[in-house]
Amino acid sequence: MLNFEFKNPTKILFGKGEIAKISNEIPKDAKILMIYGGGSIKNNGIYDQVKEALKDHDVYEFGGIPANPEYEVLMNALQSIKDRGITFLLAVGGGSVIDGTKFLSAAANYNGEPWDILKKSVRTFEGEGMPFGSILTLPATGSEMNSGYVISRRETNEKLSSGGPGLFPQFSVLDPEVVRSIPKNQIVNGLTDAYTHVLEQYMTAPSSADLQERIAESILISLQETAPKVLADEFNYEAAGNFMWCCTMALNGLIQKGVITDWAVHAMGHELTAYFGIDHARTLAIIAPSHYRYNFETKKGKLAQYAERVWGIKEGSVEEKAELGIKKLEEFFHSLDIQTKLSEYTEDYKGTAEKVEKAFTDRNWVGLGEYKKLTPQDAYKIVEMSY
Ligand code: NZQ
Ligand code: ZN
Repeated sequence: MLNFEFKNPTKILFGKGEIAKISNEIPKDAKILMIYGGGSIKNNGIYDQVKEALKDHDVYEFGGIPANPEYEVLMNALQSIKDRGITFLLAVGGGSVIDGTKFLSAAANYNGEPWDILKKSVRTFEGEGMPFGSILTLPATGSEMNSGYVISRRETNEKLSSGGPGLFPQFSVLDPEVVRSIPKNQIVNGLTDAYTHVLEQYMTAPSSADLQERIAESILISLQETAPKVLADEFNYEAAGNFMWCCTMALNGLIQKGVITDWAVHAMGHELTAYFGIDHARTLAIIAPSHYRYNFETKKGKLAQYAERVWGIKEGSVEEKAELGIKKLEEFFHSLDIQTKLSEYTEDYKGTAEKVEKAFTDRNWVGLGEYKKLTPQDAYKIVEMSY
């Protein structure tokens, strides 16, 4: 096991009715900016619950954060924070709203051009951000219990991530009841995103970190078992709770400690969202199978372990099991009605591999993957295999 440090300061309030408790988590004299998305919270009662919980606090609002949070919109929110003397941010939404809030938390305490925070390499914002909490409405990203975020800039077709130890939410409310109103296409996105988060921290080489590997496998199995229950027409609170907690545990830092990780699927996937607007999770399902086939030699040991422990495949050589593992992964995505080829999302896919290669070269992303050896030319080939 590799050396590691682990600190996750986010307090989780899990369960039905927990939104009512947020007034205890925010200072009484705080000037709060409640940040939300396109309005789902006004239709499903979450907005009313938050307003009721904070009726004795000083609350301002900023709505309209779009999916894949947009820099220009966030700059308007930043202005609002400065104009009103806001001291506490409250994200009420999915990953996009929480990520946008993290960026605002960083930008509010940053003396300089805010975009510079994102232009630096990942996790360089070391300062303390403005304090914030979150009320999660869409299980998927794990943003509610980590310190990373991803911001899009449509003007330049960029989607960049950043983060830092000062950007964890102070608290996050996980009430499974919110799952009731989530459309099925977003539930399958959440399942796919969380599943791939585990894979990015797991599908490298077999390691001696037994516990992390077993926890990772347990999250994968739980997501597989929960999927049909959470997608059934009748709402199932227990399934919703398991789904929600799996998504949080998939990316709160725990399973990546002491092991090598490979975030190349996300790096390539983000490009597909930037060029075509494809939902984040679906870009991962497009890239992951090709990534594993392209890097088969270095990943086959772990792919075989995945096939064996997660899918119960006991027969065959390491290579045969590994290939079956990739097939099982594709079948799982297809069972969620998630397509795994770029051409199934857009007719304009030709030339995408060249664009990704150029973007990575321009950003000097010349060594991705668990061994920092995946070049922009490799990315070209993986994206081309994903057409
Ligand atoms: O905007 P509203 O009206 O709220 O509607 C949203 C949005 O249209 C809707 N929704 C959310 N909760 C709902 C609901 N609809 C009905 N009922 C509810 N309870 O769902 C739509 C999608 O929301 P969004 O927040 O965009 O989805 P998600 O949570 O998948 O977040 C995606 C973003 O997170 C980033 C992605 O790149 C993408 O920008 N990621 C963040 C990560 C992190 N911070 O650690 C890691 C991830 O890998 C990911 O990159
Ligand atoms: Zn993701």
